[in-house]
Amino acid sequence: MSNRAQFATKLGVIAATVGSAVGLGNIWRFPYMAGENGGGAFLIIYICCVLVLGIPLMCAEFAIGRKAQTNAGRALKVLAPKSAWHIIGYIGILASTLILGYYMVISGWVVEYIYQAIKGELFAESAAEITNNFNTFKTDVFRPLVWVGALLVINYLIISRGVTKGIEKASNIMMPLLFLILLVFCGYSLTLPGALEGLNYLFNPDFSKIDGSVILAAMGQAFFSLSIGLGILITYGSYFKRNVNLPKTGLTVSLLDVLVAILAGIMIFPITASFGISPTQGPDLIFVTLPNVFKQMFMADMWAILFFVFAGVAALTSTISLFEVAIAYISEEFKLSRKKASFTIMLIVAVLSILSSLSFSVLSEIKLFDMNFFDLFDYFSANILLPVGGFLLSIYVGWVMKKKDFKAELGETSTLLYRLILFSIRFIAPVAIVFIFLSITGIFKF
Ligand code: PFF
Repeated sequence: MSNRAQFATKLGVIAATVGSAVGLGNIWRFPYMAGENGGGAFLIIYICCVLVLGIPLMCAEFAIGRKAQTNAGRALKVLAPKSAWHIIGYIGILASTLILGYYMVISGWVVEYIYQAIKGELFAESAAEITNNFNTFKTDVFRPLVWVGALLVINYLIISRGVTKGIEKASNIMMPLLFLILLVFCGYSLTLPGALEGLNYLFNPDFSKIDGSVILAAMGQAFFSLSIGLGILITYGSYFKRNVNLPKTGLTVSLLDVLVAILAGIMIFPITASFGISPTQGPDLIFVTLPNVFKQMFMADMWAILFFVFAGVAALTSTISLFEVAIAYISEEFKLSRKKASFTIMLIVAVLSILSSLSFSVLSEIKLFDMNFFDLFDYFSANILLPVGGFLLSIYVGWVMKKKDFKAELGETSTLLYRLILFSIRFIAPVAIVFIFLSITGIFKF
């Protein structure tokens, strides 16, 4: 028995890992992508990507973490000593920290909107004013940073308590809350006059819209949404007890993540259709389009509060997991207490968040590779580090790691399932990742 921290229960494992997977990506990216790219047809392709690529790669990360029983940075030093494979862990630590640099800022915007909704200030007279309010807030120097500060404190309070008492306990409370809000909202949406039209937009299969670039987009979304390639699943895997079955956990987490993405669409599109507003994606969907629609609804304030609390909880459980990668690393490598380690990483993320928040105001003219800090952190982490990390991960587990070790980590699994998982990690994942990388960086257009 190791004396490392562990998630106490299997439910805690699922709550924390689903907490990481379910984030803003499920709310503002997936539903719109599905709606615009063939509805039901996109959904089928997305689910195939999750099954064929997502679950095997999740198993690969979990297996590394649990076998090595250490943080993402050291894991491959333990499993493959005297080699350079530990670069996978370093890429994960860098990527997850950079992602926090902009994800915390957007999470802060969500908290501002909870605050405004509670105060009843969210709903300006006209649509133009709502857009204007968002832009004024975003370009303010101090106000967005106040919320980043508040979120840093909340993350600190949870993470510094440790894996079981902090991360697991918070996830056990927040994830049921998240599902509850989502279900209440969906129930309401489905009673609206535009329900059918909304569902049609999301589900009606249109195979003519499917081409190579749509398939690559679906794969990219699966990686992003399942938090693959960032060292998160290596870190969380190192907290799994030996009785946790990895493929089953991967399947459960993925299905719940897909379910939330679909339910988010069922929540959003009937509302936009009913009030005659066309859906958008990205920050504008939740900070401009939805306030415009909520405004017209019966008990507008209540729905707005519920929605932004939902988005805030989804974001918070994701930021906790992004933080944990670097915190586990520096606390174990530099023998720092959890509190000190958490504080150090929070300071680094505070600096990154200041840079990206100010990209909308005083630093807007400062550009690197033609991007402001906010866009740079996003581009460099999601488009470069994530695919490179994912590629190396699949090569290591598929071709270098001892097969018997990998099989032993998977737990009780049929030989057929083991072979399928290994086949995907060895052949399908590396090829798919190379194509995604070429496509998103624009090196090659499909
Ligand atoms: N999986 C979460 C989401 O979809 O929002 C968290 C996350 C993972 C955010 C990876 C960003 C990212 F690049």
